[in-house]
Amino acid sequence: MVEDPSADIIREAAGALGDTTVQDVIQADVGAKNAPTAVFSAKQVRRARDLLARLYALRRAERFYPQEHPAVVQATEEFGAVLSQFHEEGVDVPLTFFEDELLLGDQLLAEDSVLFDQLIRDMTAVGAGNVVFQRGVTLAEIKEFARIISTDPEIVAAQGGIGAMVTTAGLEHIIVSDVAVYHEQPKVSDVDGGRLAKEAYSNALDLMRELERLIRTSQVINVPRVKGTVRSLIENVMNNRYATLELAGLKSFDEYTFYHSVNVAILSLALGSMITHDYRFLSTLGTGALLHDVGKMTIDLDILNKPGPLTSEEWAYIRQHPIYGAENTALTPGLDKAATVIVLEHHMRYDLTGYPQRTPPRRQHLASRIVAVADAYDAMTSRRTYSAARPQDDAILTLVKNAESALDPTLVRLFVGLMGLYPPRSVVLLSSGETGIVVSPNPHSVSLPRVRVIAAAGGEMTAPVDIDLAEDDEGRTIVRCIDPAGLNVEVSDFL
Ligand SMILES: [Fe+2]
Repeated sequence: MVEDPSADIIREAAGALGDTTVQDVIQADVGAKNAPTAVFSAKQVRRARDLLARLYALRRAERFYPQEHPAVVQATEEFGAVLSQFHEEGVDVPLTFFEDELLLGDQLLAEDSVLFDQLIRDMTAVGAGNVVFQRGVTLAEIKEFARIISTDPEIVAAQGGIGAMVTTAGLEHIIVSDVAVYHEQPKVSDVDGGRLAKEAYSNALDLMRELERLIRTSQVINVPRVKGTVRSLIENVMNNRYATLELAGLKSFDEYTFYHSVNVAILSLALGSMITHDYRFLSTLGTGALLHDVGKMTIDLDILNKPGPLTSEEWAYIRQHPIYGAENTALTPGLDKAATVIVLEHHMRYDLTGYPQRTPPRRQHLASRIVAVADAYDAMTSRRTYSAARPQDDAILTLVKNAESALDPTLVRLFVGLMGLYPPRSVVLLSSGETGIVVSPNPHSVSLPRVRVIAAAGGEMTAPVDIDLAEDDEGRTIVRCIDPAGLNVEVSDFL
């Protein structure tokens, strides 16, 4: 049985994360680079109505006529002309279509929300709840954007959602994303749970791909999309935990950082939700976890992916990534400032011998300690340019060995309780000689999870059968984890 977290931890979690710890760590010079939060003039707010009317006309033209039809060309040009008036005044144009509200930046357009209710419905139906038209946008991009938002919602869904379509179209100056809404859900069936978790996972991956593009081209992080993604991950971790945890074992060698970030967010949220269900805390935790390595997105890819050993200068450079990341998140308007603390602190270690060093030393925040456990676990179980992936049980043991030094011992205990000694997706040898894949942990016994048996004692593959080791009549137990590569088994095929 896992022990209850200490009263200390609960007290700390219950208090909201403050915004105060950032300033004293990030040096004062970064203040000068602070990106302005767009405040729109009364004239610009009035002009938004003209812009919306032209967007409505453009979408209608796009739906009724072929793309090269003069009506579409004209509607594109007219919309582009109003847009360029904003851009010439030095501002990007962020629009939010949400339930029955319309916003320009943070400003609610009350009358327009009534006038354009059809447009709000159409935009939200395809998942285009947030749109930012950035300076530099071309008529070709506007035309492509019009085509995407005029697509039937079912087709958009079939193509992987609006985020995927925008990514595929390569629109450089138009950012489109959904506005996710958190609401308590009734318990979902296993089938729905699997589908919802996969959707949330792949949306989060798309977000990470987009963030890398934005950061590498010195653009501002798309905050509404980060918030929506975190909300949806929280929703899945809370309502649909095992399907989501199972996905957190997905790996990609080529896109390591993207998968790693999403996995760390899921594992952190699952661990954090064992301590508190406070939405504000979880939201900060999820945001910080998802963005904990954004600093790496500013580091030279040649160094990041270098197959051989790094020189001491290269190491020193890579060890700057928490600071680069924290600068980036601290300067992003609208982003939860407390998440910056996590980005900055995730490598500091529990015993404060990590990096960056802080004088005078101050304990890592609870949320940073949570992310550190998730980060260590996912990194160990992934194949990297410089090391092979470790089996899950080995990674769990290493966490235990590092409790007190690198990691918070109470959180390690909770994490072992959450994942079990044999986490989901582990391929295991049973005492019967059979081979199985761990499907979900058992909250009451860390060593007896639910297992899908896939091969008989002789090694021949069998039709998969699920067994709960905690209630197994034959009394089977797990002997050890085995490397799926040696068995020629693709774990995903069985889940
Ligand atoms: Fe990191």
